[in-house]
Order: sequence, then C-alpha cells, then structure tokens
Amino acid sequence: MTAGEQQPAPRYHSPVMCREVVELLAPAPAGTFLDATVGGGGHAVAVLQAAPQLELIGIDRDYEALKAAAESLADFGDRVVLRHARFDSIPEVLDRLGQPQITACLFDLGVSSAQLDRPERGFSYRLDGPLDMRMDQSATSTAADIVNHADEQHLAAILYRNADERHSRRIAAAIVTKRPFTTTGQLAQVIAEAVPGGDRRRSHPARRTFQALRIEVNNELEILEVALTAAISCLAAAGRCVVLSYHSGEDRLVKSVFRRAAGESAPPRPGLPPMPGIEASVRLLQRRARKPTDSETTANHRASAARLRAVERLNLQG
Ligand SMILES: C[S@@+](CC[C@H](N)C(=O)[O-])C[C@H]1O[C@@H](n2cnc3c(N)ncnc32)[C@H](O)[C@@H]1O
Repeated sequence: MTAGEQQPAPRYHSPVMCREVVELLAPAPAGTFLDATVGGGGHAVAVLQAAPQLELIGIDRDYEALKAAAESLADFGDRVVLRHARFDSIPEVLDRLGQPQITACLFDLGVSSAQLDRPERGFSYRLDGPLDMRMDQSATSTAADIVNHADEQHLAAILYRNADERHSRRIAAAIVTKRPFTTTGQLAQVIAEAVPGGDRRRSHPARRTFQALRIEVNNELEILEVALTAAISCLAAAGRCVVLSYHSGEDRLVKSVFRRAAGESAPPRPGLPPMPGIEASVRLLQRRARKPTDSETTANHRASAARLRAVERLNLQG
C-alpha cells in the first residue's frame, strides 16, 4: 500500500445467504418488512432494493448495530424506521408505530461479526476482553456474573443445554475451581486446559462454552420461541417469515415452532393417543432447512453453520 492510500473500512457484517433471503422476501405483498435483527442492515438493504413495495421497520437490541444500520440504510429515507428493542416485543413495537400487520419478516439470529470482532464486547474466546457478552449494553447481567456465581451443576447444565458441550461437567468443575474470572482470555485458557487433548483439534475448546454463555446471558432461546410465535401472528395473508439460525438448538426450536404453526403436531409418544390436530396458520416454504452454497462458505466461514427456514401465512378468511 502506498502512502496516502486508504485501508478499506472493515465491513460491519457480511449478510449470510443474502440471495436466498431476497428471493424469499422480495415477492411479499406490499406493506411492512420487519427485520427483527437488523444488525448492520446488510439483508435489509438488499431486500429494500429488490422490493420497492416494502417499507422497513428494523429492530435490534444493540445500540451500535442500530448506528451501523442507520448509516447503511440512509439512502432509503423515510422507507426506514429503526428502533432499539428486543424481538420478543415485536407486537408492542408494531402497535406503537401504528402498523399492527407485517408482510415480510426476517430473523438472522446470533451475533454479528462486529460484535464478535470487538474484544471490548467480550464475545470472543480468541480476543482478550472483559467477560461481558451482553448484546444489549443496557442489560444488567454479564457473562462474568454467571461464570463467577452460578453453582457447578447449573453451569454444567447451561453448557450442555445451550451448546451440546460433551465436556460440560469437566469444564464446569474447572471453572468453579479457578474462579473468579474477569476476562475472556483467562476463561478460554482454563477451558483449554480442562478439555482432553483429542478434542482440541476439531475447533477451539472454548467455542461451545462461549456460545452457551452468550445464549444464557441474552436469554436467547426463550426469547426466540415467544418472538417467532408473535411474528407469525402479526403476518398478513401471504406474508413471509424467514429465519437464519446458527446452531442445532436454535434450528430445532425454529423447526418446531414453524411445524406447529403449519398444523403438524409432534409425533405421539409411544403408548399415548395422537395429539389433536392444530389449525394451520402458515405453510412451510420448504420442508428441510436450506444450507449456504459451498462458494459462500468458502468466502465467509461464518456462514457455514447457517440453516434457513421459511413459512408463508395462509389466507384464513379465504
Ligand atoms: C447476525 S446479526 C444480524 C446481521 C444483519 N442481518 C445484517 O445483515 O447486518 C444478529 C443481530 O441480531 C441482534 N439480536 C440478537 N438477538 C436479538 C433480540 N432478541 N432482539 C433484538 N435483536 C437481537 C444482535 O444484536 C445482532 O445485531
């Protein structure tokens, strides 16, 4: 690089499966597109460009994300409204804006690259920073609170339930012995020492523990179930909802909420009579979760875990 040349600014976040999201949401009927996780606005920009019939309400629980979204969406002027909110308050946000119904909706779950890459946010096991992990900077409970105060059994349960961590008990015991922790680096080091050698080669030994703690700090799974159910009930006829999830626990939950809304009850337990059918309010736009293409995962390794599911609201009056 020669003197005077500018280094390009790092992107806030590269939107994952953007072409697939646009293909699914651009045909939505005219009305409101609710981006429940607007982040840096990558998907929102692409959908607004492809669908002139849509206006955007973008929400995020992270103030920095909203600032980034405001910049990337500036050209769309009054087609865009942004609000700081958690997505389990979608009906309240829509009510306050006088738009109770939506025709398109997107949940792109988890954290953005900008959140992961800023050590001061405390999400990364690779970058040393405070043990924070709050998506919403105004929330009170941090990862340090859980790591330093939860009892050993509860810690192990968090790691197992939220991230299928097979060494949950061993890691929880090591944490309780070595605490208190104040930084991500200290915690990652203790986990790396606690995990047996063979497992270190597959991925960083702290990856699942950090994922589990982040999910717990931000109460992600509980909020998601409430939010998806509410979003579906706010959809107008032929309105579409797309969800991108990034780990098996999330995808299982999305699949179960969508199948229930599509009138498919869970298979009966052995020995019990079948559950009564539930009236369908949506149809599944595909039965199996879609995955990103190989070329996308090669270009953006963070896309590799993505699973996309989508539904369309039925016209119940018709
Ligand atoms: C993967 S990023 C979204 C990136 C965005 N699609 C883009 O193209 O830039 C996920 C975003 O969702 C936000 N988020 C996660 N859980 C949330 C919740 N319960 N309510 C509101 N925002 C949430 C995070 O703060 C983060 O900014």
